[in-house]
Amino acid sequence: MGSSILSAIGRRLEGKVALITGAAGGIGKCTAELFCKHGAKVMIADIKDELAHSVCQDIGPTSASFVHCDVTVESDVQNAVDATVSKYGALHNMFNNAGIVGSNTPNIPHDDKADFERILSVNVTGAFLGTKHAARVMIPAGGGSIINTASVCSVMGGLAPHSYTTSKHAVLGLTKNTAVDLGRYGIRVNSVSPYLVITPLAKEFLKKANMPEEVYSNLKGVVLKTEDVAEAVLYLGSDESKYVSGHNLVVDGGYTISNPAFTVYDQGN
Ligand SMILES: NC(=O)c1ccc[n+]([C@@H]2O[C@H](COP(=O)([O-])OP(=O)(O)OC[C@H]3O[C@@H](n4cnc5c(N)ncnc54)[C@H](O)[C@@H]3O)[C@@H](O)[C@H]2O)c1
Repeated sequence: MGSSILSAIGRRLEGKVALITGAAGGIGKCTAELFCKHGAKVMIADIKDELAHSVCQDIGPTSASFVHCDVTVESDVQNAVDATVSKYGALHNMFNNAGIVGSNTPNIPHDDKADFERILSVNVTGAFLGTKHAARVMIPAGGGSIINTASVCSVMGGLAPHSYTTSKHAVLGLTKNTAVDLGRYGIRVNSVSPYLVITPLAKEFLKKANMPEEVYSNLKGVVLKTEDVAEAVLYLGSDESKYVSGHNLVVDGGYTISNPAFTVYDQGN
């Protein structure tokens, strides 16, 4: 986004503090950059220390810091939340974004139990722990916004391995249940559900599935980018969404509501 537009609409996260998991690359990194452009202080939590350090350096040390955090380890998540509050004095936005796709194929007789559990551990337990420890500090503070990265796989089957689809449906369940639980403390919980964005995770997935990087899109002439997902997260993290909770913001160009195999519309464009 150009700086002139930014100054015209204002810095939408001025004075806010965010903790973003999985921000050493992909969607998390892009969101960290956008949050900082909008005035937030951001703590980047990831297992890839070197990459995360370079993201912080690029953003600038006054706006971003790094804490090593494996989201499957409760003491790491607890420490990441405490380090954020200790460094920046508060926690307004928790973005539970870290995720993996795993190696299972969508072919259940061949699926591996350990791999299934590993995906659930990062994608679901990670979001659970992030929500739990963010709530621990947001409740006494009187509010906050928790955002989970789900996926179009949170509302559709057949797009990814069983483990991944199961995990993203669970992230949506966690989002809804915790939105009800935490609403009484003024804390909002939402999820963002992107369609395919070309990141290291998506490349790994497409390679395993033997699929090209250009896949069917419902929306002509537009390719989903990490920036588009970051803009959706920015909305959910800002006060502009102050009455939005328990919502799954699908960023898919209409993919999940269309059936390309059966349409009344002329496809001969
Ligand atoms: N890329 C897509 O097409 C797409 C679509 C829908 C949803 N998503 C979701 O978006 C989120 C981000 O994915 P991405 O595409 O940016 O992938 P990515 O691989 O570029 O980034 C994921 C980040 O998570 C980190 N991570 C992995 N395991 C971790 C752990 N145990 N603890 C802490 N950090 C860990 C990685 O180091 C990496 O930096 C994931 O939850 C993914 O499921 C991605």
